[in-house]
Amino acid sequence: MTQSEITVQTATENDLNFVSQDGGLPRPVVKRKVRGGDIFVAFRGHERVGYLRLEWLWSRLPYIERILVLQTHRRTGVGRAILAHVEAEVASRGHVILYSSSQLDEPEPQTWHRRVGFDECGILTGLNEGGVGEVFFRKSLGPSAGEVRSAAER
Ligand SMILES: CC(C)(COP(=O)(O)OP(=O)(O)OC[C@H]1O[C@@H](n2cnc3c(N)ncnc32)[C@H](O)[C@@H]1OP(=O)(O)O)[C@@H](O)C(=O)NCCC(=O)NCCS
Repeated sequence: MTQSEITVQTATENDLNFVSQDGGLPRPVVKRKVRGGDIFVAFRGHERVGYLRLEWLWSRLPYIERILVLQTHRRTGVGRAILAHVEAEVASRGHVILYSSSQLDEPEPQTWHRRVGFDECGILTGLNEGGVGEVFFRKSLGPSAGEVRSAAER
């Protein structure tokens, strides 16, 4: 599988089941986010293989609420491709920093964040079920964010 087979699109109502499969948000909320253009889907060929839901801290700072790549497609560049697309999207709207986070007890997504250019910027203790903390990340979006998307889609 090569990077060139991955495309990323803004989700439509046809993608509702796919982009709500983690169960983390009520379906009406996901529907509203789809209508707002805040969810993105990655395709490998015609198959949906991952998604990213964007949230807005204080209604104005872009924050990755959820990124999920299907198990069988992990470590093949899908997450990086969705991220590149979303970076370009938010950069084109004038944003210079993208935020994200991960549960403190999940080292793998933390490694992924660091690998794709995020820096840790703080921890909120006890935010999750069972008192598990959440580690927050930020990534500066350079003027090349659009070029990254082009490279990822080549
Ligand atoms: C985290 C997640 C989105 C990563 O997506 P992915 O498509 O597997 O990641 P990519 O293939 O784009 O990987 C990008 C880089 O990170 C590295 N990487 C990815 N997962 C990794 C892991 N578990 N451990 C170490 N490195 C990892 C890859 O090797 C790659 O490095 P390289 O391009 O420099 O060689 C995916 O594993 C996932 O869906 N996990 C479950 C949901 C989750 O935890 N989401 C994050 C919190 S919301």
